[in-house]
Amino acid sequence: MGLLFQDFQESFSSEKQVEYLGLKFDSEEARRAYFLDRLREGLEELETKLGGVPFTSVDDALERLKSIEKWPMGDEERLKELARRMARAARREPYKDLLQLWKDEVGFPHGKIEDILQLSDPPYYTACPNPFIEDFIRHYGKPYDPETDNYRREPFAADVSEGKNDPIYNAHSYHTKVPHKAIMRYILHYTEPGDLVFDGFCGTGMTGVAASLCGDRKAVEALGYVVREDGTILKPEEEGGKTVWKPFSKLGARRAILNDLSPAATFIAYNYNTPVDVEAFAREARRVLKEVEAECGWMYLTLHNPSEEQLQRALEELDALPERKKGSPELPWGRINYTVWSDVFICPSCAGEVVFWEAAVDKEAGRVRKEFPCPHCGACLTKRTVERAWVTKFDKAIGETIRQAKQVPVLINYSVGRKRYEKTPDAFDLALIEKIENSDIPYWFPTDKLPEGEKTRDPLNVGITHVHHFYTKRNLWVLGATATRLSYVTGLPIVKVWLTSSLIRTSKMYKFTLDRKMGNVMGTLYVPSIWTENGVLKLLWHKLTDFEKMSFSETSAITFCSSTSSTHCANQSIDYIFTDPPFGGNLMYSELNFLWEAWLKVFTNNKQEAVENQAQGKGLREYQEIMTRCFKEYYRVLKPGRWMTVVFHNSKNSVWNAIQEAIQEAGFVIADVRMLDRKQGTFNQVTSSGAVKVDLVISAYKPNGGLEERFKLKAGTEEGVWDFVRTHLRQLPVPALKGGRLEVLQERMAHMLYDRMVAFHVQHGVLVPLSAAEFYTGLAQRFPERDGMYFLPDQVAEYDKKRLQARELVQLELFVTDEASAIQWLKRELARKPQTFQEIHPQFMQQIGGWQKHEKPLELKELLAQNFLCYEGSGPIPAQIVSWLKCSDKYREKIRALEAAGRLTAAGLETDDAELIAAARDRWYVPDPNKAADLEKLREKALLKEFEEYRNFTGRRLKVFRLEAVRAGFKKAWQERDYRTIIEVARKIPESVLQEDPKLLMWYDQALTRVGEE
Ligand SMILES: C[S@@+](CC[C@H](N)C(=O)[O-])C[C@H]1O[C@@H](n2cnc3c(N)ncnc32)[C@H](O)[C@@H]1O
Repeated sequence: MGLLFQDFQESFSSEKQVEYLGLKFDSEEARRAYFLDRLREGLEELETKLGGVPFTSVDDALERLKSIEKWPMGDEERLKELARRMARAARREPYKDLLQLWKDEVGFPHGKIEDILQLSDPPYYTACPNPFIEDFIRHYGKPYDPETDNYRREPFAADVSEGKNDPIYNAHSYHTKVPHKAIMRYILHYTEPGDLVFDGFCGTGMTGVAASLCGDRKAVEALGYVVREDGTILKPEEEGGKTVWKPFSKLGARRAILNDLSPAATFIAYNYNTPVDVEAFAREARRVLKEVEAECGWMYLTLHNPSEEQLQRALEELDALPERKKGSPELPWGRINYTVWSDVFICPSCAGEVVFWEAAVDKEAGRVRKEFPCPHCGACLTKRTVERAWVTKFDKAIGETIRQAKQVPVLINYSVGRKRYEKTPDAFDLALIEKIENSDIPYWFPTDKLPEGEKTRDPLNVGITHVHHFYTKRNLWVLGATATRLSYVTGLPIVKVWLTSSLIRTSKMYKFTLDRKMGNVMGTLYVPSIWTENGVLKLLWHKLTDFEKMSFSETSAITFCSSTSSTHCANQSIDYIFTDPPFGGNLMYSELNFLWEAWLKVFTNNKQEAVENQAQGKGLREYQEIMTRCFKEYYRVLKPGRWMTVVFHNSKNSVWNAIQEAIQEAGFVIADVRMLDRKQGTFNQVTSSGAVKVDLVISAYKPNGGLEERFKLKAGTEEGVWDFVRTHLRQLPVPALKGGRLEVLQERMAHMLYDRMVAFHVQHGVLVPLSAAEFYTGLAQRFPERDGMYFLPDQVAEYDKKRLQARELVQLELFVTDEASAIQWLKRELARKPQTFQEIHPQFMQQIGGWQKHEKPLELKELLAQNFLCYEGSGPIPAQIVSWLKCSDKYREKIRALEAAGRLTAAGLETDDAELIAAARDRWYVPDPNKAADLEKLREKALLKEFEEYRNFTGRRLKVFRLEAVRAGFKKAWQERDYRTIIEVARKIPESVLQEDPKLLMWYDQALTRVGEE
């Protein structure tokens, strides 16, 4: 499209004429008008050329997509893939035209062109895919050049929940949010000033705020870093028992590219990332509030301790109130802060109406009783035994008769001057509500029908079928009056976000609690039995002070709304990705954002929503497929050798595995997984097994240094394996000293390196040329080993230096749940101290309490025999036992003497000293790599024999089996391209086991893909 981009910091900061690569604009409005025209042209062309055209064939679709001139459609290869996907969708939904099929694939939101344009502020923000993104990247990005590129960073993990008490963070809520302060640490670690940072699941755009604040000295210093005059940023590190400040980054804003499927999210994100003339905003907001208050303030009037006579007078005045706009000054008026509403039920014994608030709430004790008496007949009731009371009325807004759960006002909290009071609604309050109910709202408000979904079932159960039903008529009226006035405010889109920031708190979802810790039930659209009708005006005034406090950063972001599986970013153009994607069925964003989007008139197209949601027909597999496509897009746009940080919140193991699988299938290599221990504020490494109930930070990189290219040449060869290990080791950190402690890094251990190497081969669809045994021997021959970890030669020198300074070596806590973890545990124990069966047995028994029920129980004897060696008392004493004996004062001198006499050889310590032999006899120890390889071969044989049994098993499900045998069997079947065996055996093991084991899942997924391709 060749759109032109200029430095928009300049454009925002002044109204003076600015030049955009030869194009002159007189003002911001002129710039906006110009780009809006371009956007409109593109949108109209799409509609003209694709709208109403039925899908006939992939070729036809491809030709038509290619014919679009005013919208960047992507290269031919990507278009072909898109057309194929559209063909599949057309089979399921033959009634859709080409335009809709295309929109579904790219995550183009639902909405009229006018409404999309109304929300957009191009080129900075489009409430749809952004056709200007290529220009942004061309203008600000630094092209990747493999010849000169020397980028190198280690993976990094920091607290992802730090900074939740910040006014910026709190200005607009979202269902989950990563605070910008946490993200800043990552961006500073991985990038240079001016680099491009991408977040494709940006939500409220905190990544953009963070990228911009990396240029704010105060904000960086507030993180505990030191910033030098020249902008160098230093962080504290431990060296020789002292803290030294080391330079690691530079002060300067980074540029963010922000995307989300939800127009509400992106609109909030855009506003968070756009400098605002706060004074002008506050002025406009105040003006509107005052106008609305003058017009609607009467709706929140209530009487303070009125006499009977005053009550009567107020009732008589009611009809005139809207015109007079204020109550008579001589009446004791108060202003409502909020009104509490309660469900009404029907007693099954006497059919009398029971107001839940009155019958069940123990106001003195401050709790809701589970059992409560019927006020009419005394029957003992619970919420389960009562029916709802319903009201039927005509809803003019949609022209339908509706049936809704009956709810009545039960408590009013109001202010007189600065003092707050509470009361039970009196005749005036009820008449006022009645009056508003019977009036017509003279303003626009959204009346959209709730979409079918998982979370929308809750409101549907109480008769909330359309978006306006979430509000009392009073609140709806005031919101409508405000929204209408705000729609005339030009050049300050922030006013709309100010409005959306109050849409949940003014709805019926806002739960009332006696301790006044009120709020909505996060992640739901649930309307509680007792809820709070917050006064809109009061809340907007309150929010205004919050918004005024926000220091809006200089803009450095471009924001758009599409699926991350399909962006307009150029190949290899992004310097870093920070992302916090959705996790399985945790949150249904498109349903939860519906309320906001209805007011903005543009809606999420949920076809590409990465979510497990029955109503959308998406299970774990569909979720994983979408995530894989999104990660593939991330992979495509990221520069080689660069990092992606993925934040993972509480969830199920199966979702955790799906995410890991998606990341790896896209081509990334995971280099580090850490979880945050909130109590200790520390980060712990995570093994692939075990439940994930905490925040995790995954660091993955796109291989560089030409590994991918070289791998194509050497794939499936031994050389390719070592090339991968070398490249991977280079990306891993050397353990850091913390408080004199040095932590053993899982990722550097042989079994993890083996797993990563296998995953890399499998994801690239090539055979793994080495057995585990060959891998372990080769690893030991090629790379120096320390404390069970492997290093590159230059890294080992650094590690040795730190090892000398360390007081303690810290191992990752291990939980024995199956054969693989039992072997790891034994390895660690026996490496620390060779032990006899009698010594290790009681400890082992203590460890296996958490053994998984599907995993075949294994005797310790068997485990030892298959993986370790025992010194039986004849021949030289193995070196592993000797070095342990040497720690004892009793034997040290004797051994030293023998050593001096040259009796310690590669075979062990040759001696006939009965005492030494007795001390060493019957001890199990970890074999050296060569012997370990021999053992491994024998073990593999045994495992494959066992796998054969599973293969021949004719029952429906294997209940108890050896996971290690299934893994070995899958690997062999993969080598033999026998994908069907993998699929058949996978189907015999319980689905939950398959989904929760990342290794099995990988083989199974890949086998399914291959069979599909055959
Ligand atoms: C965990 S939230 C991100 C929250 C964000 N970190 C913040 O601080 O506000 C995940 C987001 O992913 C979005 N999403 C879901 N599927 C998507 C897709 N295919 N492409 C882009 N965004 C998607 C949802 O709309 C949601 O806003």
